Amino acid sequence: MSHAEDPEGTRRDFLYYATAGAGAVTAGAAAWPLINQMNPSADVQAASTLRVDVSVVEPGTQLTVLFLGKPIFIRRRTEEEILAAQDVDLSTLIDDNARNANVSDTADAADVNRALGETGEWLVMQGVCTHLGCVPLGDGAGEFGGWFCPCHGSHYDTSGRIRKGPAPENLPVPAVEFVDETTLLLG
Ligand code: FES
Repeated sequence: MSHAEDPEGTRRDFLYYATAGAGAVTAGAAAWPLINQMNPSADVQAASTLRVDVSVVEPGTQLTVLFLGKPIFIRRRTEEEILAAQDVDLSTLIDDNARNANVSDTADAADVNRALGETGEWLVMQGVCTHLGCVPLGDGAGEFGGWFCPCHGSHYDTSGRIRKGPAPENLPVPAVEFVDETTLLLG
């Protein structure tokens, strides 16, 4: 019997994800060993700002760092991802707010209000599903080529906007800026 046909297996998976989504600490438990290795040191984690060298991030890949206890996705988008994000009728969005700490509270969810910088190449977001807090899968996952949260099936597009599923809001963009060509400052 395949996994998809096994109702017990499906239920077990659901319970696992539901539990993982119940709190940020549990949600991050699986991901932390990996993420922690990417962070320079514990004292940097404790700081309210974090500098991240993004010089090694190739287009079409994502770096994940832990900042203030939450995973932050730093994606260097391809031209196709940028165009897909820009070519969206905003009236079709579930959440039409930018959810971006760097722009006005009332800014709409156009890609230009979500991405960092003029080229739109960089997208920085909290990697926490806005439904119950799981960490979504990246690298083009989901029906909209962005991120997918398998906990309850939320699909985010290449701008991190919620497009389908129970999550109510776009993945939030934290305070972030480039302090030189290859260094991001979070916080
Ligand atoms: S936590 Fe429920 S869909 Fe992501």
